[in-house]
Amino acid sequence: MTVAVYPGSFDPITKGHTAILKSGLVAFDKIIVAVLNNESKKPLFSVAERMEMIREAAAEMGADPDRVEVDSFDGLLVNYARRRGAGVILRGLRAVADFEYELQMANMNRHLTPEIETVFIMADDAYFYVASTLVKEVARLGGDVSDLVPSSVHPRLLAKFDK
Ligand code: PNS
Repeated sequence: MTVAVYPGSFDPITKGHTAILKSGLVAFDKIIVAVLNNESKKPLFSVAERMEMIREAAAEMGADPDRVEVDSFDGLLVNYARRRGAGVILRGLRAVADFEYELQMANMNRHLTPEIETVFIMADDAYFYVASTLVKEVARLGGDVSDLVPSSVHPRLLAKFDK
């Protein structure tokens, strides 16, 4: 059984993320979506809120609950992955801009833990430009992001910005 960890800030989860998750389920038996506990980055949503939105999004996409687990972690990702018995770190790749950062992280993680492989899935072209940071900015400024985030995320975004 191949278990993959899909780590990220997920502040909040977008349809770009859910597309990666869906593709990942074609390749891996189980995916642990792992939310980084990064209070220092001043996230918009708490870890609990982010985990709840991911669970709702996974249910909305009809994912088998036995194959998708939602968890949070802090400390080194590779230590978390090893502790959870995951052989793969799953990451999505969008434009070239993602590449350098992802290459650096993948190589550092390989240096730390050679037995864990990072696997990239290309972002769905419909969501190539979708990033949580942009989604938050557009929502804050009153733009319509309703089709870029799972349906349960949208009202929560509006509520954060009093829209
Ligand atoms: O969604 P993000 O913010 O791009 O995800 C980044 C994440 C969580 C994958 C990365 O910051 C991470 O793995 N953080 C945990 C700490 C760690 O292991 N750092 C060394 C990475 S080489």
